[in-house]
Amino acid sequence: MFIINFKNYEEIAGSRSLTLAEIASRFSKKHNVRIVVCPPQHLVSEVARLPITVFSQHVDSAKIGSTTGYVIPELLKKSNVAGSLINHSEHRIPPEEISVIVSRLRSLDMTSVVCVRDPEEAARYARFAPDYIAVEPPELIGSGKAVSKERPEAITDSVRAVKEARNSTRLLCGAGIVTGEDVSKSLELGADGILVASGIVKSPSWEQTIEQFALAFKDREI
Ligand code: G3P
Repeated sequence: MFIINFKNYEEIAGSRSLTLAEIASRFSKKHNVRIVVCPPQHLVSEVARLPITVFSQHVDSAKIGSTTGYVIPELLKKSNVAGSLINHSEHRIPPEEISVIVSRLRSLDMTSVVCVRDPEEAARYARFAPDYIAVEPPELIGSGKAVSKERPEAITDSVRAVKEARNSTRLLCGAGIVTGEDVSKSLELGADGILVASGIVKSPSWEQTIEQFALAFKDREI
């Protein structure tokens, strides 16, 4: 699986989020590779009408009901949103809250992706048994220098950390991934998938880059 985090980049403002999601949907079907998109919060339910899996970029632990301005898991689910990133490097939350949100998403049958900075955090949060841990060294995010090339040990050590938790949590990696080769290397190092933002959102051709990434998965038959 690969997850495209649209972040709040200007390139995906307004209807461009729908365009990017449609392209992802097309190549996901063409190559039979699971692609998930994370549009900005205000567009999430609009994009979730398309035939593609949508995750939220963030979710809160606030209750459903009389709360204001929070992102509520139960309401996301009713808008066809299938899961959420949690604790993204650009939106960190306290450990207790991560634990509560992972359990809440599990009880709703929604997918949880807990983002971590390093293998130590991967070990700590894998104990909460999220569906996925995504390791992203912060200094490589948006750098165009792939974690799989610059910090391969961040992936291999996180794979080990996640295995040691002895549950069904799987590992994704991200930061600086811009080519199909970066994707292939991540998978060779033991990641089950990748999390990418600027490598796709800011690429000159969304079609070509998404297809290149999808083909890297297809080659590995993951
Ligand atoms: O959420 C994905 C992200 O933080 C990695 O960003 O731009 O390095 O692909 P980027």
